[in-house]
Amino acid sequence: MKLIYKEELESTQRYSKELLKNGERNFVVMAERQSFGNGRRGRKWISPNGGLWFSFICEKSEQLPDELVYFSTLAIGVATKKAIESYYNCELKIKWPNDILLNNKKICGIICEKVEDYLVFGIGVNTNFLKAELEKYSILATSLMSETGKIIDNRLLMQEIVEEANQLLKMPKGDIVSELNRYLAYKGENHYITYLNGMAEIIEVDENGNLIVFDSGERKRILAGEII
Ligand code: BTN
Repeated sequence: MKLIYKEELESTQRYSKELLKNGERNFVVMAERQSFGNGRRGRKWISPNGGLWFSFICEKSEQLPDELVYFSTLAIGVATKKAIESYYNCELKIKWPNDILLNNKKICGIICEKVEDYLVFGIGVNTNFLKAELEKYSILATSLMSETGKIIDNRLLMQEIVEEANQLLKMPKGDIVSELNRYLAYKGENHYITYLNGMAEIIEVDENGNLIVFDSGERKRILAGEII
């Protein structure tokens, strides 16, 4: 896989989609900082120097049903969690569908977009900068450096994530779900669920990757949205 490295980009995700349109394949794009990082749901992703900001595309599959796209985003979350843990001596949790938390605070965000028959994954890990960089923008996330005091080699972590991802993406759906359930954040706790516009108890992820919650004594399936 070819590494395209830039000091600054608006967004590695946007750049990757342009490269894909221009016929480039088999690459990973990494930037030292992003001036307009893309988060999910049209949000901006703050990407200062020191963090790991990269995007890559997944091998083309014959057809790409929506279900596969969805499971791939879950698989990438599990893969990223494992890779980060192998560099830091800490235990991470996954907030459904694929935010990664350390001490209940977000340290990594993942976006997965379908472009024709390709999946473009964008991963942002708050590695080597202090959480004060995020607090300036009233963002309640944290950084691995603030939580652990450790500085790591972003390129090595990026390679580890891509390797783990390639393995996880080949795993059967059931195995991805059991991994996700093992590391699921907030189990047994009440949280606000955007899909329900209200609080519910987090139970587990089902065989289709949906979140199962208890809402007023009723078991409900959450197909989309977020836990706040
Ligand atoms: C989220 O909203 O949680 C997803 C954030 C994804 C951010 C990463 S940083 C690298 C890549 N380039 C982008 O513009 N976004 C993703």
